[in-house]
Amino acid sequence: MNNTTINLLGISGSPRLASTDYVVRDGLDYASEKHGAETEYITLHKRTIGFCIHCDFCVRKREGCIQKDGMEEIYERLLWADAMLIGTPVYQGNLSGQTKAMLDRCRALVAANPAALRDKVGAAAAVGGDRVGGQELAIRSILDFYVISEMIPVGGGSFGANLGGTFWSRDKGADGVREDADGIMSMHRTIDRMIVVAEMLKQRGDTDA
Ligand SMILES: Cc1cc2nc3c(=O)[nH]c(=O)nc-3n(C[C@H](O)[C@H](O)[C@H](O)COP(=O)(O)O)c2cc1C
Repeated sequence: MNNTTINLLGISGSPRLASTDYVVRDGLDYASEKHGAETEYITLHKRTIGFCIHCDFCVRKREGCIQKDGMEEIYERLLWADAMLIGTPVYQGNLSGQTKAMLDRCRALVAANPAALRDKVGAAAAVGGDRVGGQELAIRSILDFYVISEMIPVGGGSFGANLGGTFWSRDKGADGVREDADGIMSMHRTIDRMIVVAEMLKQRGDTDA
């Protein structure tokens, strides 16, 4: 392992172990096999994450969130990561409520340390039951979170990957996305771009140190 090995965290924002679980784990496997990334995986399946209740404890105390639940492990892994891939199922044309609740709760991480997520690289994937079901808006919602968190959002480039991993499950769970060759290509190209950018940033950081 050299000092530019990228720590990549993958998160599935589905309450099920089905299509989103499959595409995020596939992205991590690809990053590990092709790029030698160190990967960790978290699923929101059976994970309790309370809504942000806007109590402002995190802003006043700067000690993290007052709620102690399934976010604690996620906070810790987010700090470990150089790069992250967040995947969501498309719900009502946008990201899932589970994914949104997790992103809202990250306010506490940044309130404690404004640089907590700064310069980490972020990519997104979305899985819709329909071919054009809201995947792009779901991806954009995650990319906006990265921008707000002072991260570096990446997509996979034009002619095939565009904003990120874009999948059509035909509502057939993991079997559906396994057959979606275009979706898998969009994911792999997004991972390629993510690793290039993350390595550049990590090398720069090592030089600065
Ligand atoms: C509440 C709900 C809303 C959904 N809304 C959409 C939608 O707007 N567009 C779409 O393409 N699929 C929609 N779907 C289908 C899921 O996005 C699709 O089945 C996806 O593959 C589920 O991901 P999972 O297998 O990881 O749970 C919806 C599913 C649920 C449960």
